Amino acid sequence: MDLHSLVKDSSLIQSGAYINGAFVPAKSGATFDVTNPVTNEVIAKVADCDASMMEEAVTAAHAAQPAWAAKTAKERANILKKWYDLCMENADDLAIILTAEMGKPLAEAKGEIGYGSSFIEWFAEQAKRVMGDVLESPFADKKFMTLRQPVGVFAAITPWNFPNAMITRKVAPGIAVGCACVLKPAEQTPLSALALAELAHRAGIPAGIINIIPGMDAPALGDVMCRDERIRKITFTGSTEVGRILMRQSADTIKKISLELGGNAPLIVFDDADLDEAVEGAIASKYRNAGQTCVCANRVFVQAGIYDKFAAALTAKVAEMKVGDGFDDGVVQGPIIDQQGFEKVERHVADAVAKGGTILTGGKPHEMGGTFFEPTVITGAQKEMQVYSEETFGPVAALFKFETEEEAITLANDTIFGLAAYYFTKDVGRVFRVGEALEYGMAIANTGAYSSEVGPFGGVKASGLGREGSIYGVDEFLEMKLMVVGGI
Ligand code: SIN
Repeated sequence: MDLHSLVKDSSLIQSGAYINGAFVPAKSGATFDVTNPVTNEVIAKVADCDASMMEEAVTAAHAAQPAWAAKTAKERANILKKWYDLCMENADDLAIILTAEMGKPLAEAKGEIGYGSSFIEWFAEQAKRVMGDVLESPFADKKFMTLRQPVGVFAAITPWNFPNAMITRKVAPGIAVGCACVLKPAEQTPLSALALAELAHRAGIPAGIINIIPGMDAPALGDVMCRDERIRKITFTGSTEVGRILMRQSADTIKKISLELGGNAPLIVFDDADLDEAVEGAIASKYRNAGQTCVCANRVFVQAGIYDKFAAALTAKVAEMKVGDGFDDGVVQGPIIDQQGFEKVERHVADAVAKGGTILTGGKPHEMGGTFFEPTVITGAQKEMQVYSEETFGPVAALFKFETEEEAITLANDTIFGLAAYYFTKDVGRVFRVGEALEYGMAIANTGAYSSEVGPFGGVKASGLGREGSIYGVDEFLEMKLMVVGGI
């Protein structure tokens, strides 16, 4: 695949790290391969940065941040709006780059570019709405107020499953309120990050405010991010295991932390659900991005009275899903990102079958070969199965049967995770009862698709800390200062 020939503007395909406003090769000259997950073909060679380059980026960010913070919110907002416009103008190319390095279908990639860009537009607007308070003073001669000020330099580590949107959801709020950032993109998908940097550069975001440091040595790069005193905040999307390491390593420098970690989302279908709505919602939630999102339904709990009907209707739809190269027409499911991910999916299916599960459709590697896996539905799922306690991160719906509302809530909450939970019911009272009882950051009734710049995205328990997007997203990048003025 010649990626350059697929895009209109090949200057969006960058291979250097982006530090202090320029694309630069690794100091050592080292590069790493970016491959297309469909063919395993190398589509680019990208600078493999070491810890010293991360330090250089931190120095650039630290030097640039005060002047950026000193701009008015409106000035920063106007530059961000320009970045948003450029992303939308180049949406087709950004989507092609994303599909080439990540494998999701092109239509889904285009959807992600719209989603990702919406965070830039939203936070350009929110920048102007950062407000402190004037407090009722306890002293006649003193005024009390609060100021909201940027934390300073922040570090971001982003995943491969949303190579565009997870960057903009972190970078846009941070820079909108006057911070500067150093960002390490996933090694599988650095090209989308570098294309965003190119557009940020064209939009006039000053040198040093956004720095992108690709590299294979994640522990070394992460170590600088956690231990450098000049970095005041770290934001990460990825596994709970890595989130714990980052939290531990950031303890010495007492950083502000936001973590968007793993999930084990329940999707509950009650007897009184609208069947078509529940099937559509399950497909939207479970099979989005080939099941590779932190909010994909992982355990599907179906009440006994609707179980067989739901299983049959879901199976009929899933069996029709077209799997293939994301660049081909009509494809709705691409490959699993890598061999490790593919093996986990295989392991979960084999384990479910060994423990009495029945495969209604799929259940094996797809004839496309490589890391393609058939969209799968399994009935007769049991608590002892791996899919009950581990996130599959693949296109496998395991259907558990339950009898009562109370039982469904207990099963749904029976996990260390607490990111998203879905449920389907037409009983309004139940909508509120269940929504309040679910120990999750996001309780979603009667739909499987809800991600947008407007809703606060984030989890509780082992699923993380903090919220991204929404009117609350800027809070993660601001410190509150008490200011007291005496002698009045
Ligand atoms: C994720 O999987 O972490 C993000 C999903 C989303 O933003 O909807």
